[in-house]
Amino acid sequence: METNQQLISYLADCQTRVNRGLDSILPAADLAPTRLHEAMRYAVLGAGKRIRPTLTYAGARAVGAAPEQVQMAACAVELIHAYSLIHDDLPAMDDDDLRRGRPTCHKAFDEATAILAGDALQTLAFQILANDGANPEPVRVRMIENLARASGSRGMVGGQALDLAAEGAQLDLEALETIHRHKTGALISASVTMAAMARPQLPPEQLASLEYYARCIGLAFQVQDDLLDIEGATEVIGKRSGQDASHHKATYPALLGIEQAHATAHQLVDEALASLRVFGDRAEPLRWIAHYIIERTH
Ligand code: IPE
Ligand code: IPE
Ligand code: MG
Ligand code: MG
Ligand code: MG
Repeated sequence: METNQQLISYLADCQTRVNRGLDSILPAADLAPTRLHEAMRYAVLGAGKRIRPTLTYAGARAVGAAPEQVQMAACAVELIHAYSLIHDDLPAMDDDDLRRGRPTCHKAFDEATAILAGDALQTLAFQILANDGANPEPVRVRMIENLARASGSRGMVGGQALDLAAEGAQLDLEALETIHRHKTGALISASVTMAAMARPQLPPEQLASLEYYARCIGLAFQVQDDLLDIEGATEVIGKRSGQDASHHKATYPALLGIEQAHATAHQLVDEALASLRVFGDRAEPLRWIAHYIIERTH
């Protein structure tokens, strides 16, 4: 319970911090081309949980870096995430009408604008990292490389391709894990590892511990997302966001059953927590987030 309260207030602080950053980074809605800029702001500034930027700030705390040092990394990862959601919801992909409790970007605007808004958010993420005055050039380059790798064809986009290709197919656990680790895990991992890059002198074993933590919670996050898609779908009447079950997508609960999917998520979080031992108290926020990932209800 106490942990929960601490997490709620930590999450709120991080949300405020990243929302301020995003608001000032995004082009003004009255700047031409206005419709494109409106769509970009609409997609980013909705009611997202900001879990990835929060991981970046929490990762910074664990390695002893100031939040200001990872402010651009935190904003960049959320910009990539927002772009991935716009494209994920498009008719050619998951064809969803709702996102974050309101119409998806292509419903609120139009398909072409939504595609372009996603494109522009992606490039903006790398632009702000390149211009990040809080870090020396070698750190910026490493962050850019890390985020690009996590977002690309061997990371998130690759996972999305595998996810679509697997529609209607019978997958085994290993194939499903591969999809999840790429489409969702890669960006979650980058959220944490970019923070580690703000401390170039970090001992390699500490970097490895953070990487392992991120790998475990990244998978746990998508297992929980699958569970919420199923468990939430029975409670809400009408079309909701994330109807992966109705797309005949392979999901953890579909493959393992609901009980076993919950058990898997818990096991992953336990492994993530064990990996943080070397950091002591400085990793408390990372621990709160690990718990939150499987306790969240949306
Ligand atoms: C949803 O991500 C899509 C996945 C990658 C599973 P989040 O659950 O983090 O969505 P927001 O940002 O809070 O809306
Ligand atoms: C989304 O996964 C993953 C990315 C956007 C990269 P889902 O398709 O499961 O996410 P929801 O359920 O639509 O939020
Ligand atoms: Mg999808
Ligand atoms: Mg989707
Ligand atoms: Mg989903």
